[in-house]
Amino acid sequence: MDEQTASKGGFYWRYLFLFLGFVGFISLGLVGFIFLPIEAAPKKYQFDIQVKNVSRLCHAKPIVTVNGMFPGPTVYVREGDRVLIRVTNHAQYNISIHWHGLKQFRNGWVDGPAYITQCPIKTGNSYTYDLKVTGQRGTLWWHAHILWLRATVYGAIVIMPKEGTPFPFPRPNSEVNLLLVAIILRCGVGEWWNNDVEKIEKQGSKLGVPPNMSDAHTINGKPGPLFPCSEKRKKYCQNSIKINFPSHRFAGKSLRSDTFVMEVEQGKTYLLRIINAALNDELFFAIAGHNMTVVEIDAVYTKPFTTQALIITPGQTTNVLVRADQVPRRYFMAARPFIDVPLAIDNKTATAILQYKGVPNTVRPILPKLPAPNDTAFVMSYNKRLRSLNSPQFPANVPLKVDRRLFYTIGLGKNPCPTCQNGTQIIASLNNITFVMPQTGLLQAHYFKLKGVFSTDFPDRPTITFNYTGAPLTANLGTSLGTRLSKIAFNSTVELVLQDTNLLTVESHPFHLHGYNFFVVGTGIGNFNSSKDPAKFNLVDPPERNTIGVPTGGWTAIRFRADNPGVWFMHCHLELHTSWGLKMAFVVENGKGADQSVLPPPKDLPPC
Ligand code: C2O
Repeated sequence: MDEQTASKGGFYWRYLFLFLGFVGFISLGLVGFIFLPIEAAPKKYQFDIQVKNVSRLCHAKPIVTVNGMFPGPTVYVREGDRVLIRVTNHAQYNISIHWHGLKQFRNGWVDGPAYITQCPIKTGNSYTYDLKVTGQRGTLWWHAHILWLRATVYGAIVIMPKEGTPFPFPRPNSEVNLLLVAIILRCGVGEWWNNDVEKIEKQGSKLGVPPNMSDAHTINGKPGPLFPCSEKRKKYCQNSIKINFPSHRFAGKSLRSDTFVMEVEQGKTYLLRIINAALNDELFFAIAGHNMTVVEIDAVYTKPFTTQALIITPGQTTNVLVRADQVPRRYFMAARPFIDVPLAIDNKTATAILQYKGVPNTVRPILPKLPAPNDTAFVMSYNKRLRSLNSPQFPANVPLKVDRRLFYTIGLGKNPCPTCQNGTQIIASLNNITFVMPQTGLLQAHYFKLKGVFSTDFPDRPTITFNYTGAPLTANLGTSLGTRLSKIAFNSTVELVLQDTNLLTVESHPFHLHGYNFFVVGTGIGNFNSSKDPAKFNLVDPPERNTIGVPTGGWTAIRFRADNPGVWFMHCHLELHTSWGLKMAFVVENGKGADQSVLPPPKDLPPC
């Protein structure tokens, strides 16, 4: 498949790829209109979890997919819809799917994180996620929520506004989804999917060290032409595992099948829905020669602002308007990690091409200027520009009075591990507690009042106060282990300060809260100062979102109203850190009202 076929437009492109059994997607907003809004008739999707062979960077390997697609299918809904997504597991791995950011009131049963709100769907079984789209519009996404399966099991959720409700910004001529991700294709690790994926995590924790980093970043499942299948790589890979390397892939034509191309028409405006589905990397994104106007984040409208580049953490989504108002040619769109600590990561740039209609494929695209990989100042100032729209129609209901103040330190650490390489294992913790995954769903345990599954004594603040962000602390790195949750009264207002620490090293952490949006009222570098910093909080139009990057050696304060009863997971969205235990959960109690308690579990909820 070459660019010419790719550029013919939405439908042809989409279905051709579907048949090819891999890749991704550009799906014009048009598809959203196929579904006419018939009240009470839910939209239905069938997700078949199946293992498919996919080839990237001259490396073919079996991966877990939804319906054989990589990335998976886009879910198109409208605000107010009910959508039934039946997930059938044909793969040999346990699976569960999370609808990241799609708030489900009183119904954590369909939230998806394995062993938190449900037990996994076992091979041969199905579970129907009965979802409601309430009070949200924009872009969200879905992904597997068990071990590292979300590396390939993910896709976009597009929420159109209610019928007759326009966008609060100029209507774009067309829409494109962009899923930014990291892919792991390392030769040695390539075998990983041939084995039991669950072995990886076990193996990783057995060694007690970080696993290999990814080999490429991708845009809509494609790394772009900056990743040729080099001869060197070919040799290296052939020595380590047996796979097929079709030599024709070196020819210019087939190389382009590794590149996503978006065709634009001069003078038209495009809505780009950008999703960071990477496992472990915060990413910068820019388009050569074109500014972007940010209009929505995490399915909440923002005050529009224009920027040359943006930062997006794993878990976050960003909608931007781009006007094709430049000299017609080919322009690169590029994504590259942001990392402001000296840690080894995959720092390669993924590219896609923005191509004006009629420009031949032979024209060399121009690369955009991305911020430097360690440009903390850019990240801080970009995040500062993010403001909720806060209009009469879309108000920002920021809690002004706080019922419950929480202060959680984020730390890395080392625990003894007799089977590990150095006798120790790298772990992570919140308030020095490394979360231990239960064997049964926490929501079930809560709802059926099962004893011995979890405790509700997660501390509101760390037991020891210290200079969190001073010199690196390398002694006494042990943590306590436990499935400890924090109990929150229904409808109380919560302020949570997430404080990074220099235990082992400082690092930025994108934190995601399930079941809620929160307001990011403040952030800063260094230690949070409870007497001075709150005075600087934005309580008028702070950004409202579901995932926030806590800066390296800094803090972030969020507020939310606990009006959604249930058990809700909170974790770092760097998969590596999640598996190291950087997670906890809130138990939000039932309210007194008739419609303020957790709904009964669905009949087909997977048993443990
Ligand atoms: Cu996007 Cu708990 O995850």
